[in-house]
Amino acid sequence: MAYGLLKGKRGIISGALDENSIAWQVALKAKEEGAIFTLTNAPIAMRMGAINNLAEQCDAQIIPADATSVEDIENLFSKSTEILGGKIDFVLHSIGMSLNVRKNKEYGDLNYEWMQKGLDISAISLHKFLQVAEKQDALNEWASVVALSYIAAQRTYSFYGDMAEAKAMLESIARSYGYRYGKAKNVRVNTISQSPTVTKAGSGIEGFDAFYEFAQKMSPLGNAKAEDCANYAISMFSDLTRYVTMQNLYHDGGYSATGISEDLVQMIQQQNQ
Ligand code: NAI
Repeated sequence: MAYGLLKGKRGIISGALDENSIAWQVALKAKEEGAIFTLTNAPIAMRMGAINNLAEQCDAQIIPADATSVEDIENLFSKSTEILGGKIDFVLHSIGMSLNVRKNKEYGDLNYEWMQKGLDISAISLHKFLQVAEKQDALNEWASVVALSYIAAQRTYSFYGDMAEAKAMLESIARSYGYRYGKAKNVRVNTISQSPTVTKAGSGIEGFDAFYEFAQKMSPLGNAKAEDCANYAISMFSDLTRYVTMQNLYHDGGYSATGISEDLVQMIQQQNQ
């Protein structure tokens, strides 16, 4: 059911690769809620072509941008304001990639060039988005910027490798820039810390299935789905959450506040019998 929450709002949505992508779901919901927006992804991701179907469904134009390139991001913001006919009200940062994780490099044997690349793509890119937006004065008052994070920023998960550092930095940038942009223009910046979700980035992590199931059993509500994450992002873009900023918001079915669940206790008891 649509509520018209984003009626009259203009946005930029990054990171839609295929229909499993969290950003894909956000784009569909944003359209449903009355927003107009542009879509962006790395030029290399365009080759997969799926984003064209989404663009068609959403009447959205695609502006390729490598999230590590300030020049590409400048083009993204200036083209978006031009195409959409005014300043931007919401931005989704849904970008993450670690070469070390992808290539199964152990945490004690990291390739540091890859690590720097991963931090640039997954975290510093949020700063680049915000700095470019501020310099171009591309965001409206009360605009809302949301980036996607994971609880490995707070707790260690052995399989998550150097993405943990990337997420910790991402959340820190959301706080620091959230303060700056809040003072300057009432712009708000938050991260949503999402449950494990079956997507290209998610399932690229070794042992993903086991940890998906663990989180499922830990969370009283079960793992939050991509579609529900999209609903939460839309509420963060809407005027109903105007005074929420500089927060890391858990969207995880209760996982982050659970010590151990009955399901897991039972599982271990059964194993020990
Ligand atoms: P996804 O693989 O569909 O999305 C990741 C996106 O990052 C892709 O569209 C990819 O093309 C883009 N990307 C990679 N390098 C880029 C670059 N240099 N420039 C521009 N874009 C680039 O996977 P998903 O899961 O939708 O990921 C979106 C965000 O959600 C990521 O930040 C991820 O870490 C985060 N997240 C995912 C969880 C999961 O279990 N899937 C859990 C919590 C957070």
